Amino acid sequence: MHDTSMRPSEIPDLCGIIERYRGKPGSLLGILEEAQEAQENHYLPEGTLRFIADRTSVPLSQVYGTATFYSFFNLKPQGKHSIVVCRGTACHTRGSLALLEESVRFLGLGEFREEEDNSLTTADGFISVRTVACFGQCALAPVIQIDGSIRSSMTAGRLIAMLRKLKKGGKP
Ligand code: FES
Repeated sequence: MHDTSMRPSEIPDLCGIIERYRGKPGSLLGILEEAQEAQENHYLPEGTLRFIADRTSVPLSQVYGTATFYSFFNLKPQGKHSIVVCRGTACHTRGSLALLEESVRFLGLGEFREEEDNSLTTADGFISVRTVACFGQCALAPVIQIDGSIRSSMTAGRLIAMLRKLKKGGKP
């Protein structure tokens, strides 16, 4: 029995996405990725996870486990802009914790508890700060991603300057 309690706005073209992946290897990851991309505020609402489990016959625990295991999946609505700070060893050694702390402080987001928080978003939904385990660009550490664009050898000063620009409506 399919769950009909979900609002259509939460599952934009989800049936089509699921159908495109039917029978393909790694289909769950692909479905989750596309569903998140298609969802307003780029996240995976609980109703969407339930719908995917129902339609793919994958246990909900497995769908939920996959969505929580990979850091690029969001279970909370994301801001219009995004900052992703790499917290891998190379970036950590070259000061990525300070980048994370400075950006969170500048945006007034409180405290980023790395063990618990996947992302923090400003109250006005303007920007989200997230972390990632590694961008695979360790030689260029510390690395961040801002609105999908990778920036290397980052400093706190440059990062804050980019955030200021973003807030003023400019391109970082
Ligand atoms: S540790 Fe940051 S890119 Fe690899």
